Amino acid sequence: MTNQSCSNRTRHAPHYVVAIVALVLAFAILPGAVFGQAATSASGVKIGIIGSGNLGGMLGTLWVKSGHPVLFSSRHPEGLKKLVDGLGPLARAGTVRESLAFGDVIFLAVPYAAYPQIGKDYAQEFKGKIVIDAGNAVPARDGEIAKEARENGIGATSAKYLAGARIVRAFNTLNYRRLASASNRPEGRLGIPMAGDDKDALAIASSLVRDAGFDPVIIGSLERAKDFAQGAPLYGQEITASEMQQRAKSLR
Ligand SMILES: NC(=O)c1ccc[n+]([C@@H]2O[C@H](COP(=O)([O-])OP(=O)(O)OC[C@H]3O[C@@H](n4cnc5c(N)ncnc54)[C@H](OP(=O)(O)O)[C@@H]3O)[C@@H](O)[C@H]2O)c1
Repeated sequence: MTNQSCSNRTRHAPHYVVAIVALVLAFAILPGAVFGQAATSASGVKIGIIGSGNLGGMLGTLWVKSGHPVLFSSRHPEGLKKLVDGLGPLARAGTVRESLAFGDVIFLAVPYAAYPQIGKDYAQEFKGKIVIDAGNAVPARDGEIAKEARENGIGATSAKYLAGARIVRAFNTLNYRRLASASNRPEGRLGIPMAGDDKDALAIASSLVRDAGFDPVIIGSLERAKDFAQGAPLYGQEITASEMQQRAKSLR
């Protein structure tokens, strides 16, 4: 490929991005591949965790164990010392801003009511950033924004508050304890429903779903995140990827 025929993004993309995109393009010639399972994997993706609580702490741990460098963030990073000390050299703790600077991919797992403030405080940092968005909008906890997410769709609501981010909705459907115990389940990996508008972001997020011990199931564009929002048919389903794809088809 000549320099002239390369897009700017491809010319400056890290090697793992180029490799994953090439794999996904190869799979795209197979029927159902893009809105099905993406079978890619990449090691050494730098991940910034925002919200290192139950879900973020657990998934970040799975990613460290699969070889990814992870920066766990908190508004009080000193409180994460025990977690990162126990995980070895691939794990470190820092502020939310440090996490955004560090991560090629951000995993966002905070109460949904915090999205407007986080999106505003770090507006520049979120632009162009791949964000795996796992938050649920829960009326009893998150108040008014949960109503907005229900009316406008959770995908559109995340995109509104994280303007310019390359959002992939994923990992919002199962309790963190279930995810921890089901990672790499020998009787068949669980399918994780995902939705997003950016194919490169979906490919990288899919590889991270796989590295965490699950199978990615791309349900569709960001708008389709409503199919697996809290209370929706694909929410809370502990099923394999092929079962998830069947159920997703039945919703069309
Ligand atoms: N827990 C689950 O099993 C599960 C499953 C699926 C989806 N989810 C969704 O994932 C999100 C997190 O749930 P969780 O159970 O992991 O919550 P959690 O244990 O309470 O952790 C949330 C973390 O968010 C951080 N946080 C809160 N407000 C923040 C702000 N304004 N700026 C930066 N960080 C902030 C807190 O970090 P610091 O106080 O240290 O800054 C806290 O550690 C929620 O939206 C939830 O609905 C959870």
